[in-house]
Amino acid sequence: MTWLQIAVEVSGDRVEEVSEAFNTIGALSVTVLDAGDEPLLEPAPGETPLWSNTRVIALFDEAQDGVGLKKQLQDVLEVPVPDLLIEYLPDRDWSNTWRDTFGAMQFGKRLWVCPVGESPPDPAAIVVHMDPGMAFGTGTHATTALCLEWLDAHPPVGRSVIDYGCGSGILAVAAHKLGATDVIAVDIDPQALQATRENTRRTGCDIEVFHPEALAQEAVDLVIANILANPLIESAKDLSRHVHAGGQIVMTGILAEQAEAVMAAYRGWFVFGPLLHREEWVLLEGLKQL
Ligand SMILES: C[S@@+](CC[C@H](N)C(=O)[O-])C[C@H]1O[C@@H](n2cnc3c(N)ncnc32)[C@H](O)[C@@H]1O
Repeated sequence: MTWLQIAVEVSGDRVEEVSEAFNTIGALSVTVLDAGDEPLLEPAPGETPLWSNTRVIALFDEAQDGVGLKKQLQDVLEVPVPDLLIEYLPDRDWSNTWRDTFGAMQFGKRLWVCPVGESPPDPAAIVVHMDPGMAFGTGTHATTALCLEWLDAHPPVGRSVIDYGCGSGILAVAAHKLGATDVIAVDIDPQALQATRENTRRTGCDIEVFHPEALAQEAVDLVIANILANPLIESAKDLSRHVHAGGQIVMTGILAEQAEAVMAAYRGWFVFGPLLHREEWVLLEGLKQL
């Protein structure tokens, strides 16, 4: 599939306004990039990057009309839009990019993640075969690696698990392979749900996959959530409700300097253990009070 991409460079104080305008005119995703080519961030609602010169990039269905979208954007913003770069992008084949760059990877003692068709050197390994498709989650990102190592060190044998923000489904599949009995994977991104369904089917894991709105009031023994700090803070009440008293919540996607704010949002229900660090990221582990 091809995408219509519209990119615009704005000053930092206009990022939120322009991002919202893109969402209003139907962007499928809005991404913010430092115009000096710093790493990409997809800021959560209310979170504005402070770069002075910022590129806001929106993706639309290829069938949309770029010139018409420019006019709509101008109408929403009510001021002239600076120079827009409109181009058509082919889908990147993330699975092959990943396969070409990385091989089998080990997390902790027993857990390995391998591209489909590859095997780890350790015959006793617990293997998660992944094809991430267009979704996030190959194990190469520090936050995914933190969760995989945590799961290897705390195998959820016989426990019920929700993978909240499942991306490719890598954590849900790993939890299932490590002995979890009832595993649910949820995500707000349809491509993530599709990738997770395919990965769970291919790996033979019996995992329920749906949008978080379809998640009933049920509570599980372990919620594992690799999303950003702001959505974690905003979802504190909901996520806490999904953990049994005595159960655990494991959260990452959190920069070290954001850890205190996330823990503060959950302390009404959870007591936190020591933080795990990897690169600039942390993993929080909370035990729900009885
Ligand atoms: C960083 S990826 C994590 C993917 C995978 N779990 C992993 O650890 O590699 C975050 C995922 O969370 C999803 N997400 C973001 N905000 C969410 C929310 N409020 N509720 C559910 N999913 C969300 C995104 O669509 C994305 O697939």
